[in-house]
Amino acid sequence: MKDIGILGLGVMGKSLALNFANKGFGVAVYNIPMLGEETIVEKFVQNNLKQSFFGGGSIPDFLQNLKSPRKILLMVKSGDPVDSVIQKLTPHLDKGDIIIDGGNSFFKDTIRRQKELENIGIHYVGMGVSGGEKGALLGPSMMPAGSFDVKNELMPLFKKVAAQKEGEPCVAWIGENGAGHFVKMIHNGIEYADMQILSEAYAILKNVCGQMNEEIAETFSTWKDSFHDSYLLEITIEILRFKKGGKFILDQILDVAGHKGTGLWTVKEGLDLGVPIPAISAAMNARILSGQRSLRVKLSENLPKDTRSNIDVESIKKRLEKGILAARFLALSEGFHLMKTASEKYHWNLNLSEIAKIWRAGCIIRSKMLPSIAEIFEKEPSIFHLFESADFQKIIEDSVNSLKAVMRILSIQNLATPCLSAGLQYYQSMHESYSPINLIQAQRDFFGSHSYRKLDGGDENFHTIWEK
Ligand code: 6PG
Repeated sequence: MKDIGILGLGVMGKSLALNFANKGFGVAVYNIPMLGEETIVEKFVQNNLKQSFFGGGSIPDFLQNLKSPRKILLMVKSGDPVDSVIQKLTPHLDKGDIIIDGGNSFFKDTIRRQKELENIGIHYVGMGVSGGEKGALLGPSMMPAGSFDVKNELMPLFKKVAAQKEGEPCVAWIGENGAGHFVKMIHNGIEYADMQILSEAYAILKNVCGQMNEEIAETFSTWKDSFHDSYLLEITIEILRFKKGGKFILDQILDVAGHKGTGLWTVKEGLDLGVPIPAISAAMNARILSGQRSLRVKLSENLPKDTRSNIDVESIKKRLEKGILAARFLALSEGFHLMKTASEKYHWNLNLSEIAKIWRAGCIIRSKMLPSIAEIFEKEPSIFHLFESADFQKIIEDSVNSLKAVMRILSIQNLATPCLSAGLQYYQSMHESYSPINLIQAQRDFFGSHSYRKLDGGDENFHTIWEK
């Protein structure tokens, strides 16, 4: 009898199946029969005879080979396929069995599915898994959540397959129902911003400082001895150096980026919960705008060309490393603020220090920044925003002036750096004790009698007859 069943043999499913088997667990695998994928299970089992997977047969065969309570990890596309697989499984399951959704599902779908399944006695765990194909094989960062009743049943397995950092597994029971998928969604929102920030740094070095790909890789390499050290910086350096047939692949890639929804959900959730996440939103918008390529190309033909001779390139080069660091930390602070707010709204009691800790390795946004964030939340668990921490302020104050300087220099030309600007504006807005929004309240009251509150008037609402 096998310890775990993996349903869905896409890249992530296969890698996770191998990871579990390599850690000594018995694994059964299954793939919903689909046109063109009829032999996927058979081939996988054949290619990995040493690990002795159980595969093949029908759903009942797959399930009969699992120890009770059965643990079935779904690695299928998010959305309808998850519901459809659940429907196929449930008639064959017993009370107490556990379904784990390891895909990038929308957390509200997870909450719904969990309720539906708990009603028929089946446990449902929504688990964020980060690290891509390689991470899934060698050790991902894992964010499971669901009923605490099954935590002890699952954690011993997850702890073994997760990435390890300084002897600690990068997995934590995030909370109840949709908490794990929510936290993974925020991870991805931060991932979007981090990728966009690095892309903007690449654009500045290329278009303003006139560096070629290898020089940019060199510049980025010199940043690695700092908080910048990260998986995304590392792969960026590799990408910049990668040539095939003597040509850089990067230079041949169309400047249009796709997305599968997690970044968009993060932005929508920020708006719904009333938490501004401008750098993350800017990264999302940059992807959307990238898709409007023909319009951009057409419009750019009519724009006056930049005369870049008066740009202070040396100053940019000197300040870029720290400026970019400020932006990366600011994007992280937005993500953590949104998690804190959601934690209260959905009663998840999220442990932000633990979350930062499990992001130190295995996941896509792993970096040297995360251990310091984990330390800050460990020291001050009650803070609502990272800006409240003196340690975080110190990091930002040390770098934000460089961001300001870079933005000031860049402002005289047409190079779009939406994420850097949004991050800086976020910092500046969050430090403004008094915003000009009093004028908006007056305008609202003027044309719509919406009333306003006064600085010294408590909760009382006032209205003025503005028109004389
Ligand atoms: C990870 C990644 C992974 C994937 C997402 C984002 O943490 O391993 O975030 O989940 O890259 O699908 O993809 P999009 O950029 O297509 O939204």
